[in-house]
Amino acid sequence: MEKEKVTVTQIRKWKEAGKKITVLTAYDYPLAKILDQAGIDILLVGDSLGNVVLGHPNTLPVTMEDMIHHTQAVVRACKQAMVVADMPFMSYQVSREEAIRNAGRLIKEGGAEVVKLEGGMAVEESIRAIVQCGIPVMGHVGLTPQSIHSFGGHKVQGRGDEAAQRVLADARAVERAGAFSIVLEGIPRSLGERITQELSIPTIGIGAGPCCDGQVLVTYDLLGFYDDFAPRFVKRYANLRGIIFEAIQAYKDEVEGGLFPTETHCFK
Ligand code: KIV
Repeated sequence: MEKEKVTVTQIRKWKEAGKKITVLTAYDYPLAKILDQAGIDILLVGDSLGNVVLGHPNTLPVTMEDMIHHTQAVVRACKQAMVVADMPFMSYQVSREEAIRNAGRLIKEGGAEVVKLEGGMAVEESIRAIVQCGIPVMGHVGLTPQSIHSFGGHKVQGRGDEAAQRVLADARAVERAGAFSIVLEGIPRSLGERITQELSIPTIGIGAGPCCDGQVLVTYDLLGFYDDFAPRFVKRYANLRGIIFEAIQAYKDEVEGGLFPTETHCFK
């Protein structure tokens, strides 16, 4: 039986019902297919694509073309999960018109169902304009990676009263503008809890504590693709780098030793 697509209406109801929302990043067809089949509710084609998959030092160089290309691959794999595409740096900051045009491209050319963009009060008007075009928006406040240079690095935001009030005001602006949900990234657990209680839209946390309505992680982080640094908020559920490395070494050894291919791998 065909599975039903996760919808914006459902996600909103899950907050009221207290059902936790699962979100993971996806950038390509094979991994997106596994996540979809595993029943993850939302696949986020994050602009973390830049550092995770394209080898950039951060998310800033990611282009609209990159996002559309990878969103298309993820959409092809998804039968059930909702697909959210990130608006890359400078695709929505210059003007409302550009924000609308680029959000439209992610829906029309990329095939996404929702767009996500970073910021609060500063982008309130752009969020409102995109929503008015019939495009659902997911907001993103707190440690917003497109602002790393103003933050002076990947630093937890909202520590202390004044900073917490700023993040709270940003979250309220996102809700006021009509976003259907919001990512809270890199903020103290207590602030994550407060925003979740105060807003009527679902909060999706990453480094924002357990009280958010849902959680998101970069899939490559939870699968253990790297053997170096992992942020505090990441839990590794597997060590895929180790498994892949061993398999590749075994292949190399067998080819070099004349053990692969054997008769069973040959055509008659
Ligand atoms: O780009 C991304 O992957 C994100 C999530 C980490 C929230 O924005």
